[in-house]
Amino acid sequence: MIADALKSVNFISTRLALRDLELARAFMSRCLQMYDELAGRGLAGKDPVEFIVEQGWGEFANHERVELPTRLSDNGGTRLEELLYLANVTKVLKPKTIFEIGTYNGRTTSIFIMNAPPDATVITLDLPAATEVRSDSANDYIDTDINLVKRRKLARYVYELGMESRYRQILCDSMEFDPTPYSGTIELGFIDGAHSYEYVKNDTEKVAVMMAERGLVMWHDYGGKGRFKPLSDYLESLAKKIPLYRVPETSLAWAAAKDVRRLAAQL
Ligand SMILES: C[S@@+](CC[C@H](N)C(=O)[O-])C[C@H]1O[C@@H](n2cnc3c(N)ncnc32)[C@H](O)[C@@H]1O
Repeated sequence: MIADALKSVNFISTRLALRDLELARAFMSRCLQMYDELAGRGLAGKDPVEFIVEQGWGEFANHERVELPTRLSDNGGTRLEELLYLANVTKVLKPKTIFEIGTYNGRTTSIFIMNAPPDATVITLDLPAATEVRSDSANDYIDTDINLVKRRKLARYVYELGMESRYRQILCDSMEFDPTPYSGTIELGFIDGAHSYEYVKNDTEKVAVMMAERGLVMWHDYGGKGRFKPLSDYLESLAKKIPLYRVPETSLAWAAAKDVRRLAAQL
């Protein structure tokens, strides 16, 4: 961690740190992510939408458009280009069933609903209301996740947009969640719940059980340093077992559903 910080210390990062340590942290993290990508370190970049088209699962149809909510800014951390990729993957893949871990205010949930076929099932999982999380030996939470759990207005976007009949909310700690009733049915999985190593591993293994042959799994927050480094290390260790890519110039990672399913067989 210290080595990573030292790599990106320079005049402007020091100047920023004197004003606000969190801003300097965000700046250095983005610089290091960009450096890794440009230097060819970590996961290779590959466009998931092109992959969907190559597989014959969808096409670049001239009459189609992606949709985003007008309220783009939220504290959930997903950046504009990432929201666009999620919308585009959904639009081109046309998944029958989508499963998201990490509803938060429902911004990404609403994007799945807007861009999926009208008869698609969108399922999203988050902690029950009023759950308090902490970081200790039994509960491995990173500080930013503790704040997100406190701040969330669960699925607020979905309700404000009047789309509540189009989704299913599961309220459960992902560690306790039983994926077996959904076995082999999910065509788009999105993992953006708790970001510690243990949780991302748990969430990936549960999503692996649920995936269909067709489709993709996507993860948010790949490539981060500091508190997000264990997540990146986990995904890079998975890339030794199955093909796994980053979405260029974003912190999204993805893999083909059929490859992620193979992980479930190895558990
Ligand atoms: C980063 S936010 C998701 C943001 C959302 N995908 C978006 O961009 O609109 C992470 C969410 O995961 C939820 N979460 C944290 N720990 C969880 C757990 N153990 N099980 C289920 N959900 C969890 C938090 O309550 C929070 O709402």
